[in-house]
Amino acid sequence: MRRSIITGTGSFLPEKVLTNADLAKMVDTTDEWITTRTGIRQRHVAADGELTSDLATAAAERALEAAGRKADHIDLVLVATSTPDQTFPATAATVQANLGITNASPAFDVQAVCSGFVYALTTADAFIRSGQHERVLVIGAETFSRILDWNDRSTCVLFGDGAGAVVLEAGEGEGTARDRGILISRLHADGRQRDLLYVDGGPSSTRTVGHLRMKGREVFRHAVTRIAEVMEEVMEEAGVRGEEIDLFVPHQANIRILMGTARKLGIDPEKVFVTLDRHGNTSAASIPLALDEAVRGGHARRGDLVLLEAMGGGFTWGASLLRL
Ligand code: ACO
Repeated sequence: MRRSIITGTGSFLPEKVLTNADLAKMVDTTDEWITTRTGIRQRHVAADGELTSDLATAAAERALEAAGRKADHIDLVLVATSTPDQTFPATAATVQANLGITNASPAFDVQAVCSGFVYALTTADAFIRSGQHERVLVIGAETFSRILDWNDRSTCVLFGDGAGAVVLEAGEGEGTARDRGILISRLHADGRQRDLLYVDGGPSSTRTVGHLRMKGREVFRHAVTRIAEVMEEVMEEAGVRGEEIDLFVPHQANIRILMGTARKLGIDPEKVFVTLDRHGNTSAASIPLALDEAVRGGHARRGDLVLLEAMGGGFTWGASLLRL
């Protein structure tokens, strides 16, 4: 059975760090409020002129190096982002050019906000399993600092900038949960809830970029339910119990959401990989950024069973179960 196997990971964070104490000088907030409500202590912010494609390219270069691949081995580039460099062309096309890929293979963006990486990974897996592609770069990259309202304390404290990438390659498995590669993914969306988390601008509506707006408490309520549901769905379909998960790499939105869902699903809190204290919520970048840190830090090894989940604006949500 054809499987899509992660052969390399990479990530990149902008140099500038914004701490909770820095934010307390900008809006009416405190380190204590942010830490206890979210778990976030600091976030990275892109410099002027540092683009989503720059972060994505740096993360992709590291993933290629880890996989032992050259840029031209890649036959599809997917970038999950809600903060593209421009309305068009796709940031993926810019990344393809930056990397020096000249084989005319396709490149496109995937827009599912915080679920973007799980959506892009699932798309890449479908392309690989259909036989259409062999080696795919799947990147999550964001510069959310550019769409935040820096006067709105209820949102500007939550997000950060960054990028993560994986090289996904075709391989063979037996069709069991012991195989390496993506074992199962499930994606969902419910557009009726699009007004709970959105950007109040866009080319077709206001001709502006707009700012992020969120009804935090309601998003929280939906997130807890939806995330647990989709995790249960993939684990049940794969016949895997919570105790068997070696590492849980959730979208890094809020420590209360990710610890609560892990507990509900019987996953040991020690197996929850947390980066949000240092990165904040980097939207589509958060899972591949965390996964790369887990791999490079020796927390995730070849053969480990890894569960990914995310939920974001739309609403969109999804989960992937894979063996490294
Ligand atoms: N500093 C100090 N006080 C604040 C701040 C702040 N930064 N932000 C809001 N407050 C105040 C509010 O004004 C409110 O004051 P009031 O009671 O006088 O009106 C009070 O704190 C409580 O506000 P709530 O919004 O009810 O606080 P809550 O406990 O719900 O926490 C939070 C807010 C952290 C945003 C939470 O709702 C949350 O995490 N929601 C999920 C949002 C999220 O993660 N979105 C990311 C994208 S979706 C996803 O990834 C799952």
